[in-house]
Amino acid sequence: MNWHERYTQQAAWTRDLREYLFRQAGLSGANSVLEVGCGTGAILSSLQTPAALHGLDLDAGALAGCRFRASNARLTRGDARDLPYRSGGFDITYCHFLLLWIKEPLKAIFEMKRVTKPKGHILAFAEPDYTSREDQPGQLAALGKWQTEALKRQGADIGLGERLAGLFHRAGIQIVETGAIQRRSPEAMDPGEWKNEWAVIESDLSGFVPREEIQKMKHLDEEARARGTRTLNVPTYFAWGQV
Ligand SMILES: C[S@@+](CC[C@H](N)C(=O)[O-])C[C@H]1O[C@@H](n2cnc3c(N)ncnc32)[C@H](O)[C@@H]1O
Repeated sequence: MNWHERYTQQAAWTRDLREYLFRQAGLSGANSVLEVGCGTGAILSSLQTPAALHGLDLDAGALAGCRFRASNARLTRGDARDLPYRSGGFDITYCHFLLLWIKEPLKAIFEMKRVTKPKGHILAFAEPDYTSREDQPGQLAALGKWQTEALKRQGADIGLGERLAGLFHRAGIQIVETGAIQRRSPEAMDPGEWKNEWAVIESDLSGFVPREEIQKMKHLDEEARARGTRTLNVPTYFAWGQV
């Protein structure tokens, strides 16, 4: 599984939203910016700003990839729930597909708030709510259930997205804007993206769904795409707040 490719695909879903929110948060005039859970650098390496860039992640392997792609950023291995930065240092602190993977997301949000300057910005760009996933045609509903179950087994909080704004509120962050993004549906994917999507599905499901069942779903998915009847909706939420 090529995780950087996957993160780059997910980054494409939020490109317009990121451009808008970073502009609103004053990225071009910021002095220092932190991505919490920066992974392989899919977002960090794309930032156009004179600001000092910082990235933090738990995973040393992901950070090695990030070091190569975002060579101008200062990277640190650490835990989002206990950020190794002084209070009030960053103009913008953001995350992208992170909080669903954290056992105590509120702790991480409190930490993001702590390290951000007064009047600074906190951005959570994309947190999905798999509990409301919808697959069409209906025969593909089982695929949705399996994938959601696989995410649970991997430790994801599958309903985090729906609680995102409430968590910001509980952390005492003043919400400026929140809402849902439209993520790319399979019928709109080009063949390369679809192949990547299926590489993720096959890796997620291997070991607990029989191979023939997975291949059956892949075939149904391919047929529905060809007919133009395939849709997939995973409500995915963002929140923008100020300290
Ligand atoms: C889905 S990836 C997203 C990476 C990046 N934000 C992006 O969108 O390309 C989630 C990342 O969060 C990191 N992560 C998970 N739990 C973490 C924690 N408690 N502290 C810091 N990073 C964490 C993982 O190692 C992984 O790199």
